[in-house]
Amino acid sequence: MPANSEEYARPATPPDTSNLSEVRGASRECTACHLYKRATQTVFGEGPKNAPIMLVGEQPGDYEDVAGKPFVGPAGKIMDRALEEAGIDRSHVYVTNAVKHFKWEPRGKRRIHKKPNSREIAACRPWLEAEIRLVKPQLVVCLGSTAGQVFFGPSFRVTRERGKLLSSKLASKVVATVHPSSLLRQPDEESRKREYKRFVVDLRTAVKASSEI
Ligand code: URA
Repeated sequence: MPANSEEYARPATPPDTSNLSEVRGASRECTACHLYKRATQTVFGEGPKNAPIMLVGEQPGDYEDVAGKPFVGPAGKIMDRALEEAGIDRSHVYVTNAVKHFKWEPRGKRRIHKKPNSREIAACRPWLEAEIRLVKPQLVVCLGSTAGQVFFGPSFRVTRERGKLLSSKLASKVVATVHPSSLLRQPDEESRKREYKRFVVDLRTAVKASSEI
């Protein structure tokens, strides 16, 4: 393997099919960036094929990498609770990530999350585009800045745009909000409660907008 094996990576090429399972299957073999080497597996999106809402996070975390499913760890648990409060059943939405392999670095025995860079995000984009093409959600919720930047470019700031109904080339209706893991990082109980409430409000905006023509 050459030192910079990224040059030799094959671009992500989702099969031209209307079968989401086929695309999911093909994503398991993806070597479009180096992240596949350290990750346990590709974590593709999950949810009903015609879900009205698609939630897009950043990348799988430690739990998701092992389970092979998106948002099953602590961030997923708090997201599920907020979804329920906003009137959405998790089983009715499609949940995925901008990047489908866990990027991490070792710290002792722990695997520490590392933010994906723009090359890794771009390499993975064809899978997200295929998911959007096949699920055809009425609305996409961007969870955090990485997802927001996929839809709106590098200058996108969640703090400025959260909770607004937006439109992008990838999806006609988009609402951005914070990443649920940011709720877990709040310094005290009061800010945790406040930020959680704001997150639920943003999700309610998304639900309302998804049902309006
Ligand atoms: N964070 C994400 O962005 N996605 C997951 O699936 C889990 C944690």
